[in-house]
Amino acid sequence: MCGIVGSIGLNKTRQYIIDGLKTLDYRGYDSAGLAFLNAEIEIFKEPETVDKLDASIPIDKDGKIAIGHTRWATHGKPTKNNSHPHLSFHREFALVHNGVIENFLELKKKLLKEGFSFVSDTDSEVIVNLIEYHYSTAKDVLKSLKMTMDELKGSYAIGLIHKGEERIYVMKNASPLLIGVGNGFNLIASDASPMIEYTDQFIELEDKEFGYISQSEYSLFDKDGNALDRKPTAKEAELVRHNLNGYDHFMLKEIEEIETVVRRLASLYHKEDGYAFDKEMIRKLKESDHIIFLGCGTSYHASLVGGRYFEESGVPTASYIASEWAFHPMFPGKKPFIIFISQSGETADLIHCLKIVKEHGYESLIITNTKGSTLERGCTYSLLLNAGVEVSVASTKAYVAQVVALLLLVNASYHTFIEPNALNKACESIANIRKSFKGVIKNIASEIKDKNDIFYLGRGFDYYLSLEASLKLKEISYIHSEAIAGGELKHGPIALIEQGTPVIVFITDKATAASMRGNVEEVKSRGAKAYIISTKELSKEGDAIVVDDFDSYLSSIIVSSIAFYLAYFVSLLKGYNVDKPRNLAKSVTVE
Ligand code: AGP
Ligand code: GLU
Repeated sequence: MCGIVGSIGLNKTRQYIIDGLKTLDYRGYDSAGLAFLNAEIEIFKEPETVDKLDASIPIDKDGKIAIGHTRWATHGKPTKNNSHPHLSFHREFALVHNGVIENFLELKKKLLKEGFSFVSDTDSEVIVNLIEYHYSTAKDVLKSLKMTMDELKGSYAIGLIHKGEERIYVMKNASPLLIGVGNGFNLIASDASPMIEYTDQFIELEDKEFGYISQSEYSLFDKDGNALDRKPTAKEAELVRHNLNGYDHFMLKEIEEIETVVRRLASLYHKEDGYAFDKEMIRKLKESDHIIFLGCGTSYHASLVGGRYFEESGVPTASYIASEWAFHPMFPGKKPFIIFISQSGETADLIHCLKIVKEHGYESLIITNTKGSTLERGCTYSLLLNAGVEVSVASTKAYVAQVVALLLLVNASYHTFIEPNALNKACESIANIRKSFKGVIKNIASEIKDKNDIFYLGRGFDYYLSLEASLKLKEISYIHSEAIAGGELKHGPIALIEQGTPVIVFITDKATAASMRGNVEEVKSRGAKAYIISTKELSKEGDAIVVDDFDSYLSSIIVSSIAFYLAYFVSLLKGYNVDKPRNLAKSVTVE
């Protein structure tokens, strides 16, 4: 799920590539690399950060043409050899690739027989050699690209340079790729954000299109090789600037921005004279008889909370994990309306689902934090979270913003489910958590940090919160953790409780508080150490954290802060890279 960039004709080629890779490292940070095309192709790559890559390149090195890559390894370990760009066997071509080639082994065998050899374990090196192989007979790069495309199965967004030609070739299927059209220069990138500083004129490649950019022109072809007449359109994209503002980590900064994010979102969409959502979208939403939510990870968890809001307002909903739904699409109801939830707007599983939704002719809404992203461009309607860029891989403020957006949407579409004023009160409770409980949370973190297994328990909204809390902990602390619905405990998971097993319990709902207290006794009698997070009116002596009273509908908005701080402190105390945990990327851009 890599990020690719390319530039031709810009004065500061190296700067564009380096800055662009930093902007795109939400797509992966296993390695970074770039290739300049001067008299020869010169490649620099490191299984390191973009800054380390930059430092490894001679200070005066630059060029008129370059391509760059930031990697999340799918095939082959994150080593220097597996890093992109990949040079072809006869050193004629260099390529950067985002995607996965499903039939790379077959193609590799064929090329080995033809005398090619390989230096990496990647699927990507197969593509560059296949292009070179076809070029040996076709003697034309565009023809070779088409021949290559006819053989490739899988996803790819490709930037390719060829020794002796002042062009960057492109080719795309299922992974995003944009051309940024400039005056005297042209650019490519996986999304618009690296290019927006230089141009607002973009062409988005469609699947199975290929072509090239040169300094002053571009040319694109469809899968049959017919020339396309594609004109750039102006698009806005946020200029991404990463700033720690005095914090040690983005995650902490982003947790502490939650109050601002909630207030901003509420005032943006709830005005004195009513809700400020797209009226046509609200009409379509009201007309539909079934809402389908699609999301992954944290965004899927937000959809569970939102789904319950809609259901309690009388609308049937179904929340699906996008990667599951994509291979078994369901459209319940006669008039379904599809809501995608994605912080980044670039998640490959969701992009796959959007294709299916469009094929079936349904309209869709994307709730996203990223203006100009693939999903934001592709869905019928969009609802922007305006949470500000989220840098830390662990999603925090965007999760809360997603839940708040869903709550406001339910209010605007059906009836007032939660008074918008309740959000102001929620912000005060979040502020109290920030001011009063960080010390206690840090102490809990130091008690649990060396445990192998941790459990989260809750019912109803507190169960949805448990799912999110557990995901957050495991992704940045590398401790196995699991969320269990209180009632499910006795159906199996309680067998895992041993002497000293930490169990974090959320009790914020009057309706289920007594049952939850029963669950606490059950785990304690098997030796668990229970840490109970409750509200004042439901609290009991010995509870670890007691927060202001609130309606349990809001637990994901308020109590999630506690879960986020806990995960943060555990990761910090273990000395891990909080913002860039191992094996992950901010945005999952391959399926
Ligand atoms: C969140 O902490 C995770 N890193 C991850 O589950 C994330 O929420 C998921 O990949 C979905 O991303 P999206 O919202 O950008 O689509
Ligand atoms: N499959 C390629 C690799 O592992 C590209 C990875 C990607 O786009 O995520 O290097």
